[in-house]
Amino acid sequence: MLQITANDWVLWLHVVAACVWIGGQIIIAVVIPLLRRVDGLTVAVGRRYQAVAWPAFGVLVATGILNVHNLGLSWPALVATATGRTLLLKLGLVLISGGAAGVHALVQAPRAWSASARHPVASAVLGSISLLAAVAAALLGVAIAQG
Ligand code: HEM
Repeated sequence: MLQITANDWVLWLHVVAACVWIGGQIIIAVVIPLLRRVDGLTVAVGRRYQAVAWPAFGVLVATGILNVHNLGLSWPALVATATGRTLLLKLGLVLISGGAAGVHALVQAPRAWSASARHPVASAVLGSISLLAAVAAALLGVAIAQG
C-alpha cells in the first residue's frame, strides 16, 4: 500500500473542507425554498449552516497556505510561473466566493430579517456568485495539483 504522507493529510483536509463549503451551499440552495414555508426556519437553518460553513472556509485557507508551502511555491513564482498565475486566479475566486457569502451572511440577510422583508433574489444572486466562484476555484485547484 502507498504511504500516506503529511502532505497527503493536508490536501485531504483541503478537499474535505471544499466538499463542505461547496456541498453545503448546494444543499442550502435546494432546501431554502421549502424552508420559507415555515416562519423563522430559514433564519434558524441559515445560522446552523454558517456555523459549519465558515470553519470549513477557514480550514480551506489554512490548508491552502500549507499546500502552497508543500508545493514549494515562492512569492516570485506567483507571477513568474504558470502554476503561480493559476494560483493567483484561484485566490481571486476564493476572495469572491468568501466575499459574496460574507456580504450575504453579515449584511444582506440580517437587514432582510430586521425589516421583516425577504429578499430571495438578492440571496440567490449572492449565493450563486459564491458557489460558482468556489466551483471554479476547485477546478483551478485540480489543475494546480495535476500540473
Ligand atoms: C473556496 C476555496 C477553495 C476551494 C473550493 C479549493 C479547492 C481545491 C481543490 C478541489 C483542489 C484539488 C485537490 C486535488 O486535486 O488533489 C485544491 C488544490 C489546491 N489548493 Fe485549493 N481550494 C480553495 C482555497 C484555496 C486557498 C485559499 C489556497 C491557498 C492559499 C489554495 C491552494 C491550493 C493549492 C496550492 C492546491 C494544490 C495542492 C497540491 O497539488 O498539493 N486553495 N483546492
